[in-house]
Amino acid sequence: MSKDFWKNLALKGPISTLAPMDGYCDSPYRQIVKKVAPETICFSEFYSADGLVHSKQLQQSALSHNILEKPLIIQIFGKDPEMFRKAAILIEQAGAAWVDVNMGCPAKKVVKSGHGSSLMIHTDTAFRIIEEMSKAVKIPISVKTRLGWTGWEEHLIPFAQGLENAGANLISVHGRTYQQAFSGKADWTGIYELKKHLTIPVIGNGDVLDYDDGLKKLGNLSGFMIGRGSFGNPWCFLPGGYIPTLSEILTIMHEHWQLLVEHKGRKGILESRKHLVQYLHGFAWVKEYRKSLVSVESVEDIDMVLARIRHEHSNLLNVKLERGKEAMIDTWTDEGACGL
Ligand SMILES: Cc1cc2nc3c(=O)[nH]c(=O)nc-3n(C[C@H](O)[C@H](O)[C@H](O)COP(=O)(O)O)c2cc1C
Repeated sequence: MSKDFWKNLALKGPISTLAPMDGYCDSPYRQIVKKVAPETICFSEFYSADGLVHSKQLQQSALSHNILEKPLIIQIFGKDPEMFRKAAILIEQAGAAWVDVNMGCPAKKVVKSGHGSSLMIHTDTAFRIIEEMSKAVKIPISVKTRLGWTGWEEHLIPFAQGLENAGANLISVHGRTYQQAFSGKADWTGIYELKKHLTIPVIGNGDVLDYDDGLKKLGNLSGFMIGRGSFGNPWCFLPGGYIPTLSEILTIMHEHWQLLVEHKGRKGILESRKHLVQYLHGFAWVKEYRKSLVSVESVEDIDMVLARIRHEHSNLLNVKLERGKEAMIDTWTDEGACGL
């Protein structure tokens, strides 16, 4: 994959991406997004660079992916440039198209270890990480960061320029500060300003509801990222405000849990709970089914709930079901977001 890939992609039009999300963006989630909206570029959830280097089991679970997910971006976190170098080589060998470095996670335990947002302050280490990686691999390297510790005016621009000089091929910025974590509204002003000072593409992130909303927020940027807006709603990546019918929703729910079970066995059934309830978020008549879904223990349990919905709401199967678009972002709590 050429280091200019992002630049070439940006020339074709706005880049629409799935934001990296711990506990979400595994291979099944990415396959579902790509199936519904094939043009979407998917970032993985984050993995420890040290963990990848030392654990064959993590290499196997994190790096195996389906051809459907291509071009795949694997995100890693850590603080040791040597570990990043070795992890990047493994990621390249596994066939990923890019490697992305997390320099924005605000979780206390992550920051205390010198990872994530901490690298916005330890900038020499941040630059060395990118330098080491870009010397070691041919695939492009990107960085995902935040506006800064308390505001973008502090040093977002020199920080990102340093990353570009060190070899980063793309920067994506979540329009909140470390101190904000997930509170308040995302502010894109600093991200637009940043783009004026870089030659590499910049992607904006924070509170995008769907593709059309991403276009509204795009400004001078090369693309946008959608995170929470995609929970239970892979259709959010389609232009034109696509609204699925109940039948389409149930079909994708079925495929999602099947992929989870195929990839993770029993753990996949337990993980299905949180994903499946989100597909039914924002509808008035689903309380009973959501209650059943959060306690499913087997594939038979899941199948039964979905069959009941089909049977008991057969009149809605071909109806396009509109839900409050803000529903997921407004009601989501940041408990558990990249270990918060
Ligand atoms: C559950 C959850 C897990 C997340 N995990 C990661 C992660 O692993 N790496 C990362 O860079 N950002 C992570 N984030 C932050 C998102 O990538 C994104 O920046 C943030 O959710 C704002 O975008 P949104 O408003 O579209 O959700 C996570 C967010 C959530 C909600």
